[in-house]
Amino acid sequence: MTAFLNGEFLPIEKATIPVLDRGFIFGDGVYEVIPVYSRRPFRLEEHLARLQSSLDAIRIPNPHPAAKWREFVGKIVAGNPWEDQNVYLQITRGVAKRDHAFPKSLMPTVFLMANPLVPPTAEQVKNGVAAIVLADLRWLRCDIKTTALLGNCMLRTLAADAGCAEAILVRDGMLTEASASNVFVVKDGTVLAPPKSHLILPGITYDVVIEILRENAIAHEIRPVTEAELRSADEVWITSSSREVLAVTTLDEKAVGRGESAGRPGPVCARVYALYQQFKARVMRAPAHA
Ligand code: PDD
Repeated sequence: MTAFLNGEFLPIEKATIPVLDRGFIFGDGVYEVIPVYSRRPFRLEEHLARLQSSLDAIRIPNPHPAAKWREFVGKIVAGNPWEDQNVYLQITRGVAKRDHAFPKSLMPTVFLMANPLVPPTAEQVKNGVAAIVLADLRWLRCDIKTTALLGNCMLRTLAADAGCAEAILVRDGMLTEASASNVFVVKDGTVLAPPKSHLILPGITYDVVIEILRENAIAHEIRPVTEAELRSADEVWITSSSREVLAVTTLDEKAVGRGESAGRPGPVCARVYALYQQFKARVMRAPAHA
């Protein structure tokens, strides 16, 4: 398995960093996870733009122009055996004597690796997954895609302890997102999505789903969603680069939805899931760099 560390392509076992790297000491870094289908990165430009926003937010100068990032991602994809991959890209501030304030003029540490892309199983798509609702205990800059993910890891672990696939988070009575995905709900036929803010990660998949809703004239509102609306929703979905669009069919062990589709993925989710698959296929067929 080929990885990339500071300008060098090498086997992942050979990739090592100094212990004073601020990524190790402080979690002082940012990252992206880019899905690759049939060896073509999906929404790469959008991932690179979000990377730039995260770097700007924590004042790390971008060590490479976009063309170089495209080249590195392309080489990682070519250097690994899978047709569908998840490319993980991380930048930390670099190596320095431990001191909280950001030191200036460090050489950022750049790391890329790839793993096989594992989409939800057919069973998960058909039946949905279980989630629990937890208080969002993370910090107030969840819009930065930082590697400092301890809050997210604690929340996801509580979900796993409860036999659930995801923890859906509420703060001050409002839905934010989930431990590693964005959340949409459906109420009386209208899709509701919390607006982008410092409280959620601006998901690339979130944007794709909003585009799909617009293109297909599916009723939707981007507005704050209350915990009560989440708990009484007809449908709940999570979205992310690896989970795509996935129905949540139980919340805190209670079936989501009413009547016939209670505890089953709802019709709007099924439609958006199908449209998402078509969207992916269309983009993947388009000429490269279109
Ligand atoms: N997580 N919100 C959080 C907190 C996330 O960690 C993620 C993605 C998302 C969805 O973003 P996107 O659609 O761009 O994947 C929302 C990635 C996959 C991860 O950390 O592995």
